[in-house]
Amino acid sequence: MISPKRRKGAERNEPGPYSVGAIIKRAGGKRAKVRIYDGLGHFGSVRTRAGRESYFRGSAFDINGHGSAQVASDKGYTLALLKNAGFPVPDWTMIFRGETPAVIPDGAFPLVVKPNNLSKGKDVCFAGDRVVLKRILADMSVRYEKLLATEYIPGNDYRFLVLDGKLEAAYERKKVCVTGDGERTLRGLLLPYLERDREGILSDALRLAGADIRRVPAMGEIVCPIVAANISAGGKAVDVTDRAGSGYRKLCRRIAEAMSLRFCGIDIITTEDIAFAPRDYRIIEVNSSPSVSGFAATGDGELLRTRRIFRKIYRKLRKL
Ligand SMILES: Nc1ncnc2c1ncn2[C@@H]1O[C@H](COP(=O)(O)OP(=O)(O)O)[C@@H](O)[C@H]1O
Ligand SMILES: [Mg+2]
Repeated sequence: MISPKRRKGAERNEPGPYSVGAIIKRAGGKRAKVRIYDGLGHFGSVRTRAGRESYFRGSAFDINGHGSAQVASDKGYTLALLKNAGFPVPDWTMIFRGETPAVIPDGAFPLVVKPNNLSKGKDVCFAGDRVVLKRILADMSVRYEKLLATEYIPGNDYRFLVLDGKLEAAYERKKVCVTGDGERTLRGLLLPYLERDREGILSDALRLAGADIRRVPAMGEIVCPIVAANISAGGKAVDVTDRAGSGYRKLCRRIAEAMSLRFCGIDIITTEDIAFAPRDYRIIEVNSSPSVSGFAATGDGELLRTRRIFRKIYRKLRKL
C-alpha cells in the first residue's frame, strides 16, 4: 500500500500517507493547489480559485463556521444543544475543578468521565461506582478545569462522517479487547497495541482504568480494559457505510443541520442495526474536525473512501 519511496520519505519526516495533507493533495489530482507547511501533513492550505490560501489544521477546514466548530468542541454545549433540539443524548453532569462528587446520585452509576474539550479518546474513563469516580476525579481535576460525567451507554460505537448533509462514511469502532492464554500478562497481551500507542492514549487510559497489567488472564478470558473505542486509543474501524439505511442517513443529516456543521463526525452508540430506522440510540458527541487518518489507514477501501470525501472537500475549498 505504501510505496518504498514514501516509506523513506516518512523517515525523513515528510507527511505520512494517511495525513490530511497527503490525502487532500492526492485527492486534488496531479496539479493540486495544496501546500503543506509541516512535516506531519497536519498544517497546510488549499489555494482558492480567487487566489486566497484556505488553511487547514488537521481536518479543520474553512468549511465549517468558526462559532459552530467552537460549540462542537465543547462536549457539554453539544449535548445541551442536541437535547434542546429533541435528540437523545446521555444524561450528563459537568464537574468543575474542586467540586466533590456528592452531586451525583447513586442511581447514576456507571458513568463515563471525560475532559470536556478533548478528543481521540484521551482520558475517557469508566467509573462503575463512587469510589472509582473519586479516584478518577482526584487524578483528572488537577489537569482539567471541566470534566463531563455522562451516563454509560452500552452498545456499539459508530462514527458517521457527514459532508453537506450527505452521509459519506460510517464505521463501527471496536474497542481494544484481548483474549487470555493463561500465560501472558495483560501487558504482554496488549503489547501490539502499546507499541502503536505513540500518543500514550491507551497507556493513560489503562492507568486511569486502574487496570492490573501484571495480571495473567485465564485461558479464553476476554478482557476489554478501556471504555473508549477511538482508533487513537487502539480501537479498530470496520467500514459499515453500505450498511447504513436511509433512516440513519437522514438522522445524521438532521444532527449536522442542528449543529450547523457542513463537515462533521457524529459519534453514536446503539445496539440496533443501523440498516433500519433509528429508535434507540444516543449521540455521544459531534466533531467539527473529525480525525480521518486512523480510518484511512485501515485498508485500501477505507483509504479510497477517505480520498473521495477529501476530493469533495478540495473542490468546495477551491470555490471559497
Ligand atoms: N456515555 C458513554 N457511554 C459509553 N461509552 C462512551 C460514553 N462516552 C464515551 N464513550 C466511549 O469513549 C469514546 C470517546 O468518547 P467521546 O465523548 O467521543 O470523546 P472523544 O472526543 O475523546 O472522542 C466514545 O467513542 C465511546 O467509545
Ligand atoms: Mg469521539
